[in-house]
Amino acid sequence: MRLLITGGAGFIGSNYINWHLQQYPNDEIVCLDKLTYAANMAALADVVKLNNFTFIQGDICDEQFVEMCFAQYKFDSVINFAAESHVDTSIKSPAIFTKTNVEGTGVLLDACVKFAVARFHQISTDEVYGDKPLDYDWRGFTEEAALHPSSPYAASKAAADLLCLAYARTYGLYVTISRSSNNYGPWQHSEKLLPKIIALAESGQKIPVYGTGLNKRDWLYVLDHCIAVDKILKNGKAGHIYNIAAGTEIANLTFIKVVLGILGKDENVIEFVEDRAGHDLRYPMDCEKIKNELAWKPHYAFEESLTKTVAWYKG
Ligand SMILES: NC(=O)c1ccc[n+]([C@@H]2O[C@H](COP(=O)([O-])OP(=O)(O)OC[C@H]3O[C@@H](n4cnc5c(N)ncnc54)[C@H](O)[C@@H]3O)[C@@H](O)[C@H]2O)c1
Repeated sequence: MRLLITGGAGFIGSNYINWHLQQYPNDEIVCLDKLTYAANMAALADVVKLNNFTFIQGDICDEQFVEMCFAQYKFDSVINFAAESHVDTSIKSPAIFTKTNVEGTGVLLDACVKFAVARFHQISTDEVYGDKPLDYDWRGFTEEAALHPSSPYAASKAAADLLCLAYARTYGLYVTISRSSNNYGPWQHSEKLLPKIIALAESGQKIPVYGTGLNKRDWLYVLDHCIAVDKILKNGKAGHIYNIAAGTEIANLTFIKVVLGILGKDENVIEFVEDRAGHDLRYPMDCEKIKNELAWKPHYAFEESLTKTVAWYKG
């Protein structure tokens, strides 16, 4: 199989490439990445030397360039990880989120139709559903739930999802979408919560917590995400969406305290700061579909994988 991975020099994409080539050493992967500030080529150091891996620097919004790649490599499948991914940045500078996350996805979908690519998988997020109250104890969002994104980031991801579904319906493209909760693992950019806590705590600085810190997130180990995406790519149904979460929902404040505990640091470094605009409270998701239809379940235990991840960042 010849697979195009976009955004493969970022956090989840690079973990996916490394994992995929270990699982399937005979597959061929082409990674297309713009190398924005969020990319890190060091994450691909183990695969760049392989004959079945090719790295191309480029922008998914560049239609001519994307078509040239599709014409040259004749991909069997495409997984789109490429995105602007930081909610805070989307609040300050939303335009690039519409550009990359919506237009860029559209360019890839057009190329898939034009070059008759057999499979397209879109990496999406639980944030497209919007949030639920902290005391909500009914069933979580199913894949059929209405989309109510709160941030420009989430809105751009929701728009991309809808574009994908329209291409499935109108052009018969074999599209699938996965919506995952917060990932943790190696190679995440230092702007994101976990690496940020570790860097600040290790350098003796205060750790800012938005609002009350009671907002909850569900933490999924990045390799559990990779396994789920692989199962969807192989056996996911055309035009279908799959939620992915680990069932480890905890308050941000608790999460920070757990990380400080692993680091052996005092909790008095925590400092409450003004809340993020439009800050979602929580995203409870129902993940029965992927469990029942694709036999996926989270494999990596939260505390153990978090401890290993913290050790990785400490170096
Ligand atoms: N990190 C999470 O917890 C999380 C959770 C759910 C969903 N997601 C989704 O997973 C995907 C990957 O997230 P991540 O955390 O790895 O992001 P990231 O910011 O770490 O990586 C994004 C990658 O995309 C590349 N990129 C950006 N714009 C591009 C463009 N125009 N053309 C080509 N490449 C471009 C960047 O250079 C970078 O390598 C995103 O679609 C994101 O929405 C992330």
